[in-house]
Amino acid sequence: MEHFLPGKKILITGGTSALGSAFVRKALEAGATVFFTYFKNESRAQELIALGARGFQLDLSDFEAIDRFQKEFRSLTKVLHVLIHNAAVAEDATIQNLTEEAWDRVLDVNLKAPYALTKKLLPLLFKASPSKIFFIVSQAAQHGIFGASNYAASKAGLVALAQSLAHEYGRKNILVNSVNPGFMKSKMTESLPAEVIEKNVRSSVLGRISDPDEAAGFLVYLSSDRMTQVSGQLLHFESRKL
Ligand SMILES: NC(=O)c1ccc[n+]([C@@H]2O[C@H](COP(=O)([O-])OP(=O)(O)OC[C@H]3O[C@@H](n4cnc5c(N)ncnc54)[C@H](OP(=O)(O)O)[C@@H]3O)[C@@H](O)[C@H]2O)c1
Repeated sequence: MEHFLPGKKILITGGTSALGSAFVRKALEAGATVFFTYFKNESRAQELIALGARGFQLDLSDFEAIDRFQKEFRSLTKVLHVLIHNAAVAEDATIQNLTEEAWDRVLDVNLKAPYALTKKLLPLLFKASPSKIFFIVSQAAQHGIFGASNYAASKAGLVALAQSLAHEYGRKNILVNSVNPGFMKSKMTESLPAEVIEKNVRSSVLGRISDPDEAAGFLVYLSSDRMTQVSGQLLHFESRKL
């Protein structure tokens, strides 16, 4: 992927996640200047910073912190080619047991923060042509998921947000898509029972779950100038049976 992203400035939230850290590494190798946010995983953040990425500690549930971050970010760069909303949280419970706080925490980080950050960083995206916004979603956005209605609702909201922004900014050559990376082993899924992982394997035509590294490579391709045609879509990096 050496020559895929020369000169591109990219910001990804949740750079310390399984998918995010694979993306940061690949995007650096592909020639991009990479900025990322993280929340608590200081050691993973330091590894990525040592590779040449620029990291920012940021709690995406804190809207004043988002505002401070965007001001700092805008003092560092006047242009942004690619913005990837990847950080996410899950707090699972069936709706009878789902507290208002858990609803708000998940919707704040997963949906309201991408709204706030996109709005603040649009002036930088206007300066690149094409520029791109990706919202990392899940198959839960389309099909729902048992015991995670807050997570599913946040991801469905992102799909609708992506489609709407694609309409609003297509003429300005901003391409906006949502990407489902598929079921992957990560912090978010590590505590799931073995039968849930098995169910995901069984529902895949390839008989395996997603590899975050390969999903990150797909995102590198989408971020590159080899892709200038697709906007307003929900793209699936998985092979689920219909
Ligand atoms: N894993 C899957 O099977 C799967 C399937 C479909 C879609 N996805 C989506 O793919 C994306 C990446 O998932 P993943 O499984 O790779 O994630 P992950 O490893 O669980 O990491 C979650 C990321 O979100 C960050 N984060 C958590 N709370 C935050 C907060 N309050 N403020 C700012 N950042 C916060 C974490 O930062 P720290 O680590 O620094 O605390 C971390 O970078 C997510 O959007 C997820 O919904 C995942």
